[in-house]
Amino acid sequence: MEKKKVKIAIIGAGKVGATLAMRVVEDNLGEVFLLDINKDLAQGKVLDLRDSLATLNYGGKINYCKDYSEVEDSDIVVLTAGFPRQAGMSREDLLIKNKEIIQSIIPRIKKYSPKAIIIVVTNPLDVLTYFVYKLSKVSRQRIMGMSGVLDSGRFSALIAEEVGVSRQNIQAMVLGMHGDLMLPLVRYSTIYGVPLRQLLSQKRIEELTKKVRSRGAEIISYLASSAYYAPSAAIFLMLKAIINDEKRVLVASVYLDGEYNLKDVCLGVPVKLGRDGVEEIIELKLNKEEKRLLQKSAEKVRDGIRKLNI
Ligand code: LAC
Repeated sequence: MEKKKVKIAIIGAGKVGATLAMRVVEDNLGEVFLLDINKDLAQGKVLDLRDSLATLNYGGKINYCKDYSEVEDSDIVVLTAGFPRQAGMSREDLLIKNKEIIQSIIPRIKKYSPKAIIIVVTNPLDVLTYFVYKLSKVSRQRIMGMSGVLDSGRFSALIAEEVGVSRQNIQAMVLGMHGDLMLPLVRYSTIYGVPLRQLLSQKRIEELTKKVRSRGAEIISYLASSAYYAPSAAIFLMLKAIINDEKRVLVASVYLDGEYNLKDVCLGVPVKLGRDGVEEIIELKLNKEEKRLLQKSAEKVRDGIRKLNI
């Protein structure tokens, strides 16, 4: 008998949502339900994706929904809806507009999929993950923002290019907010177990960390819109960890309640992901400077939280 398929609702059929939908159905990771305020967009993308599945003779299942009531009891909801960042904009510039969008969506998710794990992708990421947590009033295990997997992936790509080794040999970690004050954790980043500092000069490392922080903006400068291949890949990795109960440690933005000496804020930290969502928050031993930078990152997120007016 076929195993019951996991239901994944993707809210927002823009570039990130639609590319994620493609990754998920092509891998047959679960049954996808794509929703967008622009119903034609969701329908058009789903018809095209179905045709692509038939062409490749793949077995995945994907549906478009005109209303939240059509997707009851989702196991996981991915929130990509919102205005994307454009050239010259910071992620924080999107706060008020995207807050309103999230505010209209959460009650419907609560009504139709009260047990779902929610992955937030809409920017400003950490502030809106906090907002979703406060608004939905579910356990913090079930709310997480996608940030660190993307930023760590970008850091890996840059290190691999710089050193000229396979990306598979690289373990890179970026903590903190998804924004200018993210914290590429050089001390915990290695190439085949060898600390980065043994292989690269301080100057080269600083150049790389600067590049990671501005990678999103760099891509916008070429595309005139936000990145989507790497963001969707990062969400896909988180979905796999949850659905397959991998207990994989990945960086995600989660509500902190004393961990890292931080309270009442969402920030990217390493977490163990499995079937129950955020099954554990991993506390790394940080040195004084790293702690200071993480606090600074948290302060910036708190500035945004204050603007939520909740
Ligand atoms: C980026 C957007 C998705 O970092 O925040 O590309």
